[in-house]
Amino acid sequence: MSMICRRQFLNQVGVTGAAFAAVSSRSSGAQVQAGTSNRARVIADPARTVATLDRRLFGSFVEHIGRCIYEGIYDPGSKLSGADGFRKDVLAEVRQLGVPIIRYPGGNFVSGYNWLDGVGAKKDRPRVLNRASNSTESNQFGTDEFLAWCRAVGAEPLLAVNLGTGTPERAADLVEYCNVESGTRWSDLRRKNGAERPYNVKYWCLGNEMDGPWQLGHMPAKEYGLKARDAALQMRTVDPSIRLVACGSSEVGMPTYLEWDRQTLEECYDDVDAISLHHYFGNGPETGGDSAKFLASNLIMDRQIEEIMAVCDMVRGRKRSKKQLWLSFDEWNVWYRKNTDVDMNGQRKEAPHLVEEVYDLEDALVVGGLIISLLRHCDRVRLACLAQLVNDIAPLVTNAEGVLRQTIYYPYAWVLKYGRGNVLNLAVESDGYEVAEIGRVPYIDVAGIFEPASGSTTLLILNRDLVKGREVDIVWRESAPARVADCQVLTGPDLKAYNSFEAPNRVIPQPLEPPKAGARMTFQLPPHSYTMAYLPGK
Ligand code: AHR
Repeated sequence: MSMICRRQFLNQVGVTGAAFAAVSSRSSGAQVQAGTSNRARVIADPARTVATLDRRLFGSFVEHIGRCIYEGIYDPGSKLSGADGFRKDVLAEVRQLGVPIIRYPGGNFVSGYNWLDGVGAKKDRPRVLNRASNSTESNQFGTDEFLAWCRAVGAEPLLAVNLGTGTPERAADLVEYCNVESGTRWSDLRRKNGAERPYNVKYWCLGNEMDGPWQLGHMPAKEYGLKARDAALQMRTVDPSIRLVACGSSEVGMPTYLEWDRQTLEECYDDVDAISLHHYFGNGPETGGDSAKFLASNLIMDRQIEEIMAVCDMVRGRKRSKKQLWLSFDEWNVWYRKNTDVDMNGQRKEAPHLVEEVYDLEDALVVGGLIISLLRHCDRVRLACLAQLVNDIAPLVTNAEGVLRQTIYYPYAWVLKYGRGNVLNLAVESDGYEVAEIGRVPYIDVAGIFEPASGSTTLLILNRDLVKGREVDIVWRESAPARVADCQVLTGPDLKAYNSFEAPNRVIPQPLEPPKAGARMTFQLPPHSYTMAYLPGK
């Protein structure tokens, strides 16, 4: 491929995993037991909350890349698919997970995508070159199929428009296709294509990673800001009720990090609702393979969120705007093994095996930590997408015979199952260890979610200690939950253990002995573990 890929670019500018790599030689490379106590204390007060959760915080992402769409969610030739071509096993998994919102069709793919190629009679749809991943795109799955699939799995769509090679006009046409009842060129085309009722897609991304030189149509921030503004105005003329997300920096290591966001927002602040953040974490060059550092990844996410918030609010101040933007963390995950230019090059094949990261136990612990960080910022981060959902950097993987749950599936499934209500503003006291680039990293990290209607609380607890079990006292400031109804832990002797079709249950949650209920509850957490406890109201 002549196009440079994301990882290659970041390597060239020498900032891959900048948060850790720049000073990795100064780090201890191990957890020095700095404190004396292996006991942490968490004070939980239902009256002290961060905000009420928007369930869109637990969204995901499907892209035309590798085998995500084809062989992932759509596979008409498979014995496991229905008459509509949707893989029934995948559909059942996603529906059962209860993913609230799903981003589509990219990612890098969207920046070269003509949505008109993917609608109408399937036999007439063109086979085209997917230039983002040098693959062949059959266009047999497009906007109507995605929106039908979303309905089938019970998810809301988050559509991205092409602001790379595409125009604001074509983006507004897509809004018209999706959201206008009838009587106009594009709404009538939708009806002709079989969807009589409008889809009423509410959330839209204005392009993807436009700051990246790997992006088709990449441009300077000011130019992008003007293009995003134009697109926003045209799209809102078609449907004033839509919510729009501008492209923020694609990576904290970008040379233009924060400055891109500032310049973009200077142009389009008044016309958008949110800005996007992306971040993929790894235990490769970023950390020098040091698992203690890797388990601190979510503290880097905390900082990224706070930095982007600061830029948004600075622009807001300069503009004297009444409006405060929210953040859309619409690509986040662990991804560091299958991310070279070779892994992104489909060699012109259809549904090639690309970026099929195999996730191990420590990746799942990191994903659990990242969920904690998203929760504690839920007052500003209202939408987020685990990237991606199936096959490519995903919790679910398919083969001809079925679907596999990777390790990262489990922390994601827990928060989807229990994440409702108000996120608690917990006070956490824990010993910690030093990571030079971050500072003190507490062994224990926790999120708590309280549902006022039922009085139930869910706790998600990460123990970053690689060698020692730790005790965590939860001290309830008001009425304590009467019992622990469900208490499970993800852990195991081997941080590098992973699931496969041959051994699908190597890393799965185990029951954890629940603490005795009371005003103070003491959890005994195994080393390197992620625990979920569900405490119903009385
Ligand atoms: O999610 C995989 C790719 O990572 C997406 O296409 C792109 O937006 C990001 O660089």
